[in-house]
Amino acid sequence: MTYYGFHIPVNILELFETNAKKLKNFTAINKIIKKVCGINKFFSKQSDVDEFYLKLKEYNSIVSEPHRRQYGDYQTNNALASSVVNYVFKKHEKVDFLLEPTCGRGNFIVAAIKKYKTLTKIVGIEIYFPYVIETKFKILNYYLENPQNEYPDIDIVHENVFDFPFVALSKSTINLKTLVVGNPPWVTNSELGSIDSNNLPQKSNFKKLGGFDAITGKGNFDIGESISIIMLKLFHQHEGGFAFLIKNAVVKNIIHDQKCNDFRIGKIEELNIDSKKEFNVSVNASLFYSKLNSTPEYTCRKVDFYNGKLITEFGWLRNKFVNSTSDYKYSNIIDGRSAFIWRSGVKHDCSKIMELEKSEDSFVNKLGEEFKIEENLVYGLLKSSDLKSLKTKKYRKQTIITQRKIGAKTDYIKKEYPLTYKYLNSKKSFFDRRKSSIYKDKPEFSIFGIGQYSFAKYKIAISGLYKTTHFTLVSPSKSKPIMLDDTCYFIGFDNYKTAQIAHFLANSEIVQKFLKSIIFSDAKRAVNKDILMRIDFGKAFACFSYEEALESITNLKINDWEEFGESVNKKQIVQTSLF
Ligand SMILES: C[S@@+](CC[C@H](N)C(=O)[O-])C[C@H]1O[C@@H](n2cnc3c(N)ncnc32)[C@H](O)[C@@H]1O
Repeated sequence: MTYYGFHIPVNILELFETNAKKLKNFTAINKIIKKVCGINKFFSKQSDVDEFYLKLKEYNSIVSEPHRRQYGDYQTNNALASSVVNYVFKKHEKVDFLLEPTCGRGNFIVAAIKKYKTLTKIVGIEIYFPYVIETKFKILNYYLENPQNEYPDIDIVHENVFDFPFVALSKSTINLKTLVVGNPPWVTNSELGSIDSNNLPQKSNFKKLGGFDAITGKGNFDIGESISIIMLKLFHQHEGGFAFLIKNAVVKNIIHDQKCNDFRIGKIEELNIDSKKEFNVSVNASLFYSKLNSTPEYTCRKVDFYNGKLITEFGWLRNKFVNSTSDYKYSNIIDGRSAFIWRSGVKHDCSKIMELEKSEDSFVNKLGEEFKIEENLVYGLLKSSDLKSLKTKKYRKQTIITQRKIGAKTDYIKKEYPLTYKYLNSKKSFFDRRKSSIYKDKPEFSIFGIGQYSFAKYKIAISGLYKTTHFTLVSPSKSKPIMLDDTCYFIGFDNYKTAQIAHFLANSEIVQKFLKSIIFSDAKRAVNKDILMRIDFGKAFACFSYEEALESITNLKINDWEEFGESVNKKQIVQTSLF
């Protein structure tokens, strides 16, 4: 028989059938079940029992599951739940109190009951009634199969976690060795917004628990993060452990906010799991473990859950939030302010019309149309995928640069470059369709991310799309500067030797280690302007001698080297004076 999708094993059926008469009354049935397995209020009302008996009669009833997306419903499989419990057991052999705040189908609770013989109290909370039933039946089944085992006092509560009285629970369990374990919902408030769900922390309730402003202030927050923060806030002073399966982005936020939360957690670990294999989802997730009631720590060891290999240790070091404390210790000297302003490349939001390829003496756009225009406004264009080599003066694509600075007039094109104007004007509707407000009330065919800096002859460029941190030296092609698109960042120079020195420093081991230490590879735009602006070229320069630089830069003159050092050490923004 299945009940709310849960297959009821034979020994449970027998329990009910052999006691059928007595068990019709729900308080009587609850007493018997309490005696068998410790669960309080197995059935919360008479109608639940009646319904169960109806199902018992119907036998193979099928219960359909409603839409589960709003509940971030990714149930932990038995094997993973056991591995997590075993892992925690090695650190905390004696646990009195087990709390699973969103217990789902109860796999963590059952795994813990099997492993821990010291438990005196279990509390599981779950919003979805069929899962509440399933968890209760699983526990009942376990104790029927293992009657020799002593059972703890168990509450499996059908309730919204954001309404549960955790403050009282925390107070009443303060002297118990505690394990908060689980896998809170994997869903963000904006995902919930898109399905019009009300599965969000109630502002008033959540605020009482603290941390609401800290979380919701972030705009897009994860429900799993809010539950983690509530648990840490209320149970960090309990003796014991905290073990949650959560997204790595949530772990990062917890460690980041630990600076002001000062939770009494230590020995913190992010144990990376394969979420594709475990949950069939493509999101970086981990077992987040910490020892409760410890001197607060602010760093987290990132480890492979399956083989225990240390990947990195991230967190706070000397007031900086870094991805690798060891790399940062080695390279933090570089952390400062770049003497050169990093810029992102040109943006037009009109690639069908503005991205061109050369075909003999004419051009072809992305619509496959061939046409002739003057060469004057056409420049070579590099995208992130073109920045694989160390140096380049080649390009695959070209683009039309209609302005030399943002908002500049474009009416000169009609007079000076009639073919270019004819082409652009014939495609006016494509430009007019651009939605971004940056083009609003701007001259026709306007572009963005353009300034004097775009016309620098030499550029040191990096992809903003990939996780790689190497820099490409881009030289002009036929004495015309090459442009970068808006997925790239660059600094520009008119002097080749200056560009070569900046390129040498940017790719040096110490700068590369520094970048790797501050870039979180999980982040969406891992390489960005803020990160690049932290490269202090003056300090990087100080790490090398002229002779060392000469090994990489042929024909480097000592004057060029020294002049570079002087200019970056003046800590002026060199680029503004250059252009
Ligand atoms: C990611 S699943 C994990 C379930 C279980 N902890 C496990 O590890 O298998 C999240 C669970 O949280 C439950 N849930 C979602 N929102 C909830 C809420 N507001 N209150 C209580 N439970 C909730 C879902 O129904 C689902 O069972």
